[in-house]
Amino acid sequence: MKKKIALITGISGQDGAYLADFLLKNNYIVVGCDRRSARSTQWRLRRLNIEKKIIFEELELGEIFEAQRLFKKYKFDEVYNLAAQSFVGTSFSSPINTVNTTGLGVLRILECVRNISPKTKFYQASSSEMYGDVLKKNQNEKTTFNPQSPYAVAKVLGHFLTVNYRNSYNIFAVSGILFNHESPFRGEEFVTRKIIIGLINILKKKQKYLELGNIHAKRDWGYAKEYVEAMWKMLQKKKPTDYVISTGKTYSVKQFIDEATKYLNLKTKWIGKGINQKLINKENNKLIIKINKKFFRPTEVNYLKGDSSKAQRELKWKPKTDLKKLVKIMIDEELRFSK
Ligand code: GDD
Repeated sequence: MKKKIALITGISGQDGAYLADFLLKNNYIVVGCDRRSARSTQWRLRRLNIEKKIIFEELELGEIFEAQRLFKKYKFDEVYNLAAQSFVGTSFSSPINTVNTTGLGVLRILECVRNISPKTKFYQASSSEMYGDVLKKNQNEKTTFNPQSPYAVAKVLGHFLTVNYRNSYNIFAVSGILFNHESPFRGEEFVTRKIIIGLINILKKKQKYLELGNIHAKRDWGYAKEYVEAMWKMLQKKKPTDYVISTGKTYSVKQFIDEATKYLNLKTKWIGKGINQKLINKENNKLIIKINKKFFRPTEVNYLKGDSSKAQRELKWKPKTDLKKLVKIMIDEELRFSK
């Protein structure tokens, strides 16, 4: 049988690496793109031992000509648009770049599908950040978006462009609304990996303490490796439609910290309130975590909890990893690979 060929934009990120691994195991040819400056971040692909199995191409999402060149060179069966400026915090200081790549980047790829390769199936990496200041307790495909950052606004643009191109041009385009998904491959700036690296560094006496922002924000955290399978499943359906992917459980950043300290066998206690809240090592009274205003966002998303029943019903997809297990997976691998 002829091998299918897939394009993954953002190949060097967490999801790009897991998805590439999954598609290669399923006999796909994988063309992977990233921007030039991301070239040095291929450690994830190396760790999975798939770096040499991927056909690399450069792609700046800001340039439509580069995407057009790729669509003329290959006949893609599936395109997974994972590339984005994906850090919410940075989107406040770099709003124009964020909207250009995270939002308009989607349009550039959709235009290539429409004009060059209308039979190609398209996956857009949409985000639970789009729900923002949530209008419903459990968010699903029908919940109205209320974005709270330039990043989230750009993702809403990408989402509705995907829906619009599907309706207007009969393109197989789907938007996967993924809630937070973590793994040992998470970028170090995101809170879960920042916490784990920080705690391990403190234990190894390489760092005095860790500084965080709003530890009361709640997130629905799943395991990224499971989430990329859902992306693929969406493109195997007969009809294109959008899906929420989530665990249906929500925990605060503080609860994530407590799970991590427990697994690391650190005896801790929280003291103080608000900006003065601190985590102390009970055994030696030393500071472990303090709050720094610098890590607060101008507008925050305080609470997210997804309802993925549509995906569970129609895709036969189910989250398998709870928070405790996720923390264990992340810490074990961090300990194995950190110096
Ligand atoms: N990054 C970070 N650093 N976040 C902190 C910190 C800190 O020091 N302290 C508290 N937080 C809080 C943030 O304010 C936020 O409420 C929460 O921890 C999670 O932050 P991130 O891990 O940066 O993720 P995110 O929820 O903003 O966005 C991630 O998930 C989205 C899906 O909902 C990103 O992966 C997005 O790209 C993705 O779309």
